[in-house]
Amino acid sequence: MKTTGGSEAEKRAAGESAAETVEDGMVVGLGTGSTAAHAIRAIGRRVDSGLDVRGIPTSFQSRELAKEAAIPLTTLDEADEVHLAIDGADQFSGPHLVKGGGAAHAREKIVDAAADRLLVVADPSKFADELDHPIPVEVLPDARTTVAADVRALGGTPTLRTAERKDGPVVTDNGNLVLDCDFGAIPSPGVLASELAELPGAVEHGLFVGMADEVHVGSDDGVEVRR
Ligand code: 5RP
Repeated sequence: MKTTGGSEAEKRAAGESAAETVEDGMVVGLGTGSTAAHAIRAIGRRVDSGLDVRGIPTSFQSRELAKEAAIPLTTLDEADEVHLAIDGADQFSGPHLVKGGGAAHAREKIVDAAADRLLVVADPSKFADELDHPIPVEVLPDARTTVAADVRALGGTPTLRTAERKDGPVVTDNGNLVLDCDFGAIPSPGVLASELAELPGAVEHGLFVGMADEVHVGSDDGVEVRR
């Protein structure tokens, strides 16, 4: 699993802190990435000790991990309510997030938005006063060139995401491609989010505007919960 940013200890502290908030009977969205993975493993340990919970994975990766951790799974179609989602982020500023470092942001946004509360798990390197991380945009393969042109017209610089150990593009769980779009500093995330959402062929972008209810920031000194 690709890891970014802070130390494993910081990520584990954040993930385990969020996992502690899960209560009996809850349906929980299971995020993607190395920090969310710590939360999934911690929930799995609590299931082993008798916690009654059902998880909704946000990616192939989180589904496999949840199965390994023996967390009973459900779907958005079957669950009456999603009480909580726990997910990582590539950057956060207040309640605003940039996500999609694992190319899973389309499913993550669906599950995270469906949840009553979204708990973000992060290490301190993910904090920014103002978002400036490149925004992943998942595109239909046929729309790769036209969306890239549209992103340039909006003032961004798009780069097709390529696989690290393969000579080819990253393909998402949905069979699409990802353009990482650098806009520099993003003073108005809501405005950019609306502009990106309107592009024909753009399936989903990684700006999660105002979505975080809590951010559990793990550090060597413990966990700070920002609300
Ligand atoms: C996947 C994501 C991840 O949550 C994000 O990339 C953070 O990952 P990590 O905890 O490994 O740094 O958005 O699409």
